Amino acid sequence: MPTSLLPASVVPPPHEPALLAQYRHVRAATEALVADLSDADATVQSMDDASPAKWHLAHTTWFFEEFVLAARVPDYEPVDAQYRYLFNSYYEAVGARHPRPRRGMLTRPTLDEVLAYREAVDDAMQELLQAAQTDEEAALIELGLHHEQQHQELLLTDILHLFAQNPLKPAYAPEPIAPVIAEPRAEPEWLRFEGGLVEIGHDGEGFAFDCEGPRHRVFLAPFQLRSHPVSNREWFEFIEDGGYGSAGLWLSDGWRWVCDNGIEAPQYWEAREGTWWQMTLRGMQPVDPESPVTHISFFEADAFARWAGCRLPTEAEWEHAAARLPATGNFVEGGALRPLPDRQNTAGALRQMFGDVWEWTGSAYLPYPGFRPSAGAVGEYNGKFMSSQMVLRGGSCVTPESHIRATYRNFFYPHQRWQFTGVRLADEA
Ligand SMILES: [Fe+2]
Repeated sequence: MPTSLLPASVVPPPHEPALLAQYRHVRAATEALVADLSDADATVQSMDDASPAKWHLAHTTWFFEEFVLAARVPDYEPVDAQYRYLFNSYYEAVGARHPRPRRGMLTRPTLDEVLAYREAVDDAMQELLQAAQTDEEAALIELGLHHEQQHQELLLTDILHLFAQNPLKPAYAPEPIAPVIAEPRAEPEWLRFEGGLVEIGHDGEGFAFDCEGPRHRVFLAPFQLRSHPVSNREWFEFIEDGGYGSAGLWLSDGWRWVCDNGIEAPQYWEAREGTWWQMTLRGMQPVDPESPVTHISFFEADAFARWAGCRLPTEAEWEHAAARLPATGNFVEGGALRPLPDRQNTAGALRQMFGDVWEWTGSAYLPYPGFRPSAGAVGEYNGKFMSSQMVLRGGSCVTPESHIRATYRNFFYPHQRWQFTGVRLADEA
């Protein structure tokens, strides 16, 4: 369970290669997430967008088997040749695969068999990692580890979606949330940025996904950002003011989405005797007015901003503002498993930029100038998804801490909201 997750930083034991230590750490963290799941919990698929926990466990393992072991180990014998078909996600270069909407049909292999698959691949990988790697090999293994961390987050958001379908509303982690420090949070305020000709994008120092680069210049007019993400209290006002019923606040696609789906509140919200409750990884909980709102779509974020008389930040504004901040916050290792109120009463500063909720931006997910996908099959990782999706920034309460950075570009379709998605307002200065 998350409370037993390994610490975010990895200190390799003496004489153990750093990449091996990182490998052990990330793989163990994934398994800690499923320690209390039954085979049934890990098998059922609640919607096409979500995958069973068992599939996440196997697919992240397949990634190492397919792209590292099969390529590197002479005469490598796959643990099970059929897993290449079952656990390939979307790699056309690898070949045919089991259809995504039918991942929940895989009652076999069992959870135990999938865990045994992980163990067999881990043995082979750890043997390989005892030897020195070329830069290219090390980069591929590091990609596999960051890929696995992405799936750790997806595993938790998919479990939340699955458990939310159950009328019993089971808690993934039943322990009560640690009491929030009772200090008043700083009042949200506008913070001004001069902008100008600035640089964004990853500079190539340390790991980044290919879509985070190249680093390049953009011009930003002076702008303002809200010090805090939008809170549930602010969202109550939007609802009470008829925000979900006012066509003029919504983009055309958004209004159709609201009408077709009867949307009246963020995902997982439920009105009980005049009070809003929400399904969380800790079961049904009252909606906390001071916490950032979460499980909202891009359409909702955009409509809220219009209602508030402002707009969403662009991804360049967000990154420019975040570039000098420490990437610290409420991440999965903290064990809260949901967004929390700001715990520091710090005026005049950006708060909660990292962790808590992914923040929708007004920027479409597009290639940066000069973008080239990575070579080989892993070139399918990011570039081919640059159509019709919007960028989110900053990580969430279920993101591993070592996975996030200011240049990180997450992306989802405008209607999707089962991730821990939230919003921070921007405006012209
Ligand atoms: Fe994947």
